[in-house]
Amino acid sequence: MKGLNTKKVIITGAASGIGRATAQRFYQEGSEIILIDMPPIEETELKAMFPERMTYIQGNVTNKDDLAKIQTEMDKGFDVLINNAGITRDATIAKMTDDQWDSVIAVNLTAVWKLSQMAATKLKELGKGGVILNAASVVAHYGNFGQSNYVATKAGVIGMTKTLAKELGKSGIRVNAVAPGFIGTPMVRAMPEKVIQMMEEKSPLKRMGEPEEIAAAYAFLASDDAKFISGTCLNVDGALVIG
Ligand SMILES: NC(=O)c1ccc[n+]([C@@H]2O[C@H](COP(=O)([O-])OP(=O)(O)OC[C@H]3O[C@@H](n4cnc5c(N)ncnc54)[C@H](O)[C@@H]3O)[C@@H](O)[C@H]2O)c1
Repeated sequence: MKGLNTKKVIITGAASGIGRATAQRFYQEGSEIILIDMPPIEETELKAMFPERMTYIQGNVTNKDDLAKIQTEMDKGFDVLINNAGITRDATIAKMTDDQWDSVIAVNLTAVWKLSQMAATKLKELGKGGVILNAASVVAHYGNFGQSNYVATKAGVIGMTKTLAKELGKSGIRVNAVAPGFIGTPMVRAMPEKVIQMMEEKSPLKRMGEPEEIAAAYAFLASDDAKFISGTCLNVDGALVIG
């Protein structure tokens, strides 16, 4: 896609699922990729997948020292930040612990805000515009049983995205969110076959999505083909949520 071969792209949560597929897509497009995730690189397949144009930062996006490592990398210059890392800690409101609430808020919302702040500051300084993309979810639009913490973060991410688009537009920085539906990452594929079938039946396209289909949305929104798109949340869900 237009312009991606000249871009340096930072992706959080890149060792698994959607993040890994996104790294793969940008790599294929010729981008330089900076990947962030928690396992040591030896425990991932990333080295073999990306023999060149790849830097791995082992770190936790909620940890101050690790954020400092990411800042050092940002200081070398970059074009795109994709806030993909996310977690679930499901429980109904009656059973949810403070820890379950706090940990999901820390990764899915506070870290997205902090990394966006770091990125915006640096991109403004570099003065050549840039792109920030955030992982939302379709559950932000309609709620989900047992996920008050997760849904609150994803709805928060959409609001933050719109606000940052307004604040950063004059610096040529575009900010968008992607809201995946039911996507066949390892976590989802491990669910009971009955649940998967039920979810597929609910979808007008009668299937779950693939991580590569979310990666494609990130690639489009980061590319120069999307240079007039900012402040939006793109649902990539096979029409699971309409309206
Ligand atoms: N899979 C789906 O159906 C789906 C649907 C809607 C939204 N999403 C969102 O897409 C994103 C990716 O989801 P996925 O299904 O690929 O998940 P995944 O669990 O397969 O991958 C998430 C990655 O993020 C990393 N990560 C988690 N916490 C981190 C932290 N504190 N610091 C650094 N890295 C961290 C994990 O180690 C993992 O590699 C998430 O934000 C998720 O909420 C996924």
